[in-house]
Amino acid sequence: MADKRKPDAVPSSAEQVQKDLAKAGYLASGSISLVSYLAWTLGKPVLVEGPAGVGKTELAKALARLANRTLIRLQCYEGLDESKSLYEWNYRKQLLRIQVQSENSWDNVQEDIFSEEFLLARPLLSAITADEPVVLLIDEVDKTDQEFEALLLEILSDFQVSIPELGVVKAKTQPLVVLTSNNSRELTEALKRRCLYLWLDYPELEHELEIVELHAPELDRAIARKLVEVMKMVRGLDLKKPPSIAESIDWARALILLGAKDIDQEVFEQTMSIIVKHRSDLDVVAERVGVRLGDGALHAGKKPG
Ligand SMILES: Nc1ncnc2c1ncn2[C@@H]1O[C@H](COP(=O)(O)OP(=O)(O)OP(=O)(O)O)[C@@H](O)[C@H]1O
Ligand SMILES: [Mg+2]
Repeated sequence: MADKRKPDAVPSSAEQVQKDLAKAGYLASGSISLVSYLAWTLGKPVLVEGPAGVGKTELAKALARLANRTLIRLQCYEGLDESKSLYEWNYRKQLLRIQVQSENSWDNVQEDIFSEEFLLARPLLSAITADEPVVLLIDEVDKTDQEFEALLLEILSDFQVSIPELGVVKAKTQPLVVLTSNNSRELTEALKRRCLYLWLDYPELEHELEIVELHAPELDRAIARKLVEVMKMVRGLDLKKPPSIAESIDWARALILLGAKDIDQEVFEQTMSIIVKHRSDLDVVAERVGVRLGDGALHAGKKPG
């Protein structure tokens, strides 16, 4: 990216964030850019919640690109604990030091081996001890359990970590923190209170068209429009897993590769497994959307040939 913004520079307005995000390859709606701007200037974490594939993770990545900051990512999963997310003592190094200093008293050795030199920083600690401010992405926080959320509270509100053997490690630089959640469980009130909240949903038709065109610029405009119209129709059905923006982009790229001149019933049936990924959903979609395409209910594409 040509932009040489300093990692600690603050944006001037929400509109500026929107423009800069677009330059960084992310087309943000008004609410996305406003919340991002506020999070950045107020120094508050932002919790981005919404269905799969609507651009939650990508928002954090784009913010890192636009701010010219390193992205530190903590991918959450069930059972994630302190030693993988915050810090761990480097036991091997501690043992070696104990062996080398065997003539020293235990008190001296203990003081020595519980110092920063023997600490292994994991993503959360790395993010607050970085020399330059970073973007910290805590991805899919709903996959962890509530105990883990409690671990995050100190970092999110005070930007510090208490280590019993060492004391409090305060942030050297303040990260821009983005947490994402697929809403698979309700997050605790304590966590939510510390964050600004952004609900990301499937985009409006025109907005999705722009996103598809950004990622698949070679796709004929009329076909791209028809694609997003079909997507909207598919999402309107009662499916187990409605298709996301990620699937729209994949579908657009597949249509380019296949040289499709239109999305007619035949093309749709050949390619619909790119957007629908459940056996029962496939039947519903083939029947409800495939048949409508066969009727010529949507006319946006060019005629074949
Ligand atoms: N506003 C946008 N502008 C540009 N690209 C976007 C936008 N929203 C989504 N995308 C694209 O859509 C795809 C899916 O986005 P992303 O992986 O961020 O989704 P997600 O919400 O994190 O999904 P999941 O919950 O499955 O992790 C990415 O390729 C991303 O580039
Ligand atoms: Mg994601």
